[in-house]
Amino acid sequence: TQPTPASIGIVTVSDRASRGEYQDRGGPAIEAYLQEVLQSPWRAVPRLVPDDIDAIADALQELSELGCCLIITTGGTGPALRDVTPEATERVCDKMMPGFGEQMRQVSLQFVPTAILSRQTAGICGSSLIVNLPGQPKAIAECLDAVFPAIPYCIDLLE
Ligand code: MTE
Repeated sequence: TQPTPASIGIVTVSDRASRGEYQDRGGPAIEAYLQEVLQSPWRAVPRLVPDDIDAIADALQELSELGCCLIITTGGTGPALRDVTPEATERVCDKMMPGFGEQMRQVSLQFVPTAILSRQTAGICGSSLIVNLPGQPKAIAECLDAVFPAIPYCIDLLE
């Protein structure tokens, strides 16, 4: 059983949002999605970090140590030089869960051909499931709808 309320880490990875050049829309979109689908009590633990592998890995590790059962990232999954969210995820994870990325990309291709450009993945860090989402706010529901049933099931197996 999860401690009540369950803590869920929400990590926005963006150079520009972390510099205050634009507002973070991804983090709030993830929070709104979870508010809609989750039935038991939970609290969001939000973080906003630049596209820097050490900063991302530190935030993921910190949220895992804080006891977040789930950590969702948004942004930094593409091919650009500064897109390193999957690498930071791999760095902190004990094992990877490639099926999440495969499924999200496959379903996303029904919405946008550019879904192939996302290297989004997932993995287990301690007792936390980390799931990467692309940075586009509209990608959040498109991707989470594709894998959501597997998330509580996976978390139950980590306890
Ligand atoms: N997946 C979904 N479901 N919807 C989208 O709009 N955008 C794509 C892709 N995956 C998209 C998507 C685009 S344009 C890019 S460049 C990659 O995700 C990587 O985005 P990121 O670097 O912001 O993570």
